[in-house]
Amino acid sequence: MDNNTIDPAKSIPTFYAGQSIFLTGATGFLGKVFIEKILRTCPDIREIFILMRPKKGLSLNERLDKMLNLPLYDKLREEQPKNFKKLIVVSGDTSQENLGLSAVDRQMLIERVTIIIHNAASVRFNDSLKYAILTNTRSTRDICILAESTKNLIALVYVSTAYAHLDNPFIEEKIYSPIADWREMIKVAETLDEHILNVFTAKCLDNIPNTYIFSKNLAESVIQEYSSSLPCAIVRPSIVVSSLKDPIPGWIDNFNGPTGLIYLGCKGLLRVIYASNYIPPNHIPVDTVINTIILVIRKLGLPTFTSESTCLVVNCTTPNGKNISFQEFCNRGYKITEKIPLEGILWTPNTLFTESVTMYYVLAILWHILPAIIIDLILKLLRRQPMLLELQRKIYVSNRALQHFMCNDWKFDNTNSQNLMSLIPSDSREMFSIDLSDMDYTKYSRNAIIGGKKYLLHEDMNRLNAAKAHRKRVNLFVATFKTIVTIGMLWMIYKWICF
Ligand SMILES: NC(=O)c1ccc[n+]([C@@H]2O[C@H](COP(=O)([O-])OP(=O)(O)OC[C@H]3O[C@@H](n4cnc5c(N)ncnc54)[C@H](OP(=O)(O)O)[C@@H]3O)[C@@H](O)[C@H]2O)c1
Repeated sequence: MDNNTIDPAKSIPTFYAGQSIFLTGATGFLGKVFIEKILRTCPDIREIFILMRPKKGLSLNERLDKMLNLPLYDKLREEQPKNFKKLIVVSGDTSQENLGLSAVDRQMLIERVTIIIHNAASVRFNDSLKYAILTNTRSTRDICILAESTKNLIALVYVSTAYAHLDNPFIEEKIYSPIADWREMIKVAETLDEHILNVFTAKCLDNIPNTYIFSKNLAESVIQEYSSSLPCAIVRPSIVVSSLKDPIPGWIDNFNGPTGLIYLGCKGLLRVIYASNYIPPNHIPVDTVINTIILVIRKLGLPTFTSESTCLVVNCTTPNGKNISFQEFCNRGYKITEKIPLEGILWTPNTLFTESVTMYYVLAILWHILPAIIIDLILKLLRRQPMLLELQRKIYVSNRALQHFMCNDWKFDNTNSQNLMSLIPSDSREMFSIDLSDMDYTKYSRNAIIGGKKYLLHEDMNRLNAAKAHRKRVNLFVATFKTIVTIGMLWMIYKWICF
């Protein structure tokens, strides 16, 4: 398809009609929501090739069937049931060279694909440097090589992260100088033994907090380099959280990042956290991220976007000033759980935020570790599986991994993302909106808690009354326990002063 034949006044579904998309990371949080949105709202799309690998003993088709049975796809099943057939699974693995594609599949992609979205990534912060570079950086190079061979490419979108350039307190929508030479780093990762590379990891990372950010930063510089010959864009989401409304409010399907911590807090398991109590982390609903990607592709498809155009960079973040602190975020969530509690909570939800390492360790031992040991012992005596100590270990590891992001503040430029709104014809403003200016935070948080209960924790909303009754009992127990401890301490002080 020739760029110059694309009419700027075309509606978004008309633009996507006949397009052939190649999507990586289709089975992840963002990928699943993208598939749903595009198949439902742009029904005349030609096809979506999705790169998948077998996992957990499931074949590719079994994985796809399982995924399409999620409640996320109920609306699509109702409105465009035939469109499921437009999904074509392509076997591959982004940790392998050339994405692990077979020659036949590669040729098919070269012939048919018009839009590429490279969204797959290993998002673990503690991957080895070797794995992170091969999976996240080399795959981006190989995507670009594939894109160069395609016959009719309109757009190549790379899904990066808003935190790829952490040394800048104000992150602009531009390409930054790379922290290292991506070619050299890929060569190093390919040739050096994993153990040897582990020894050099701290030196390589320098000020970068983890291998994930390092590999994503390098991947951006790959895209920058190829953008001289390809219509490229980089979309940088901040922390992606539950959907605002599309296709259902509150959709979430993973415990990654702060989401996991918040749900643990709602269960009463996160009583102290090493984090700033005033810094507002930047959260963005997943459906807003997907609409941004859809609009970015639309923009790349405009005739104004030519081979001379530079790489389009879009920060997909909540506008500055619209965020609330993490503490406020948790407190609002906890308030909502007074009326909509999670099932089986262990303590009244309440988290103390501290940036004092000593205080964090002392309280973590008193409030997390000791109760976990006692409860695990009781479970052992009852011949049940102990689990709390292991859970607290995970909370600790997760808190340490996120600490850099919860104790530092970054602001983001949003000019390019705001300009994208002008691409939406007035009749489909609602459907593809990325405007969060009138977002009702309380309603959003309520939907997020309900969504978390339903889709993440698989709790039945019909058992809400039982959950409320349990919470009342826990509140009573906590209040009694605190009263006894307070009286005990006052008694000890009294004794110490008097004698
Ligand atoms: N979620 C966020 O808060 C956030 C924030 C900023 C940026 N991002 C970026 O957004 C993108 C999507 O993130 P997400 O939240 O959707 O992550 P996710 O839920 O963890 O999904 C990651 C996707 O990448 C795929 N993948 C990972 N390693 C692969 C491999 N070796 N071969 C083939 N596929 C592989 C996964 O496939 P399997 O199902 O087979 O594992 C999955 O489909 C990533 O590029 C991430 O860096 C996410």
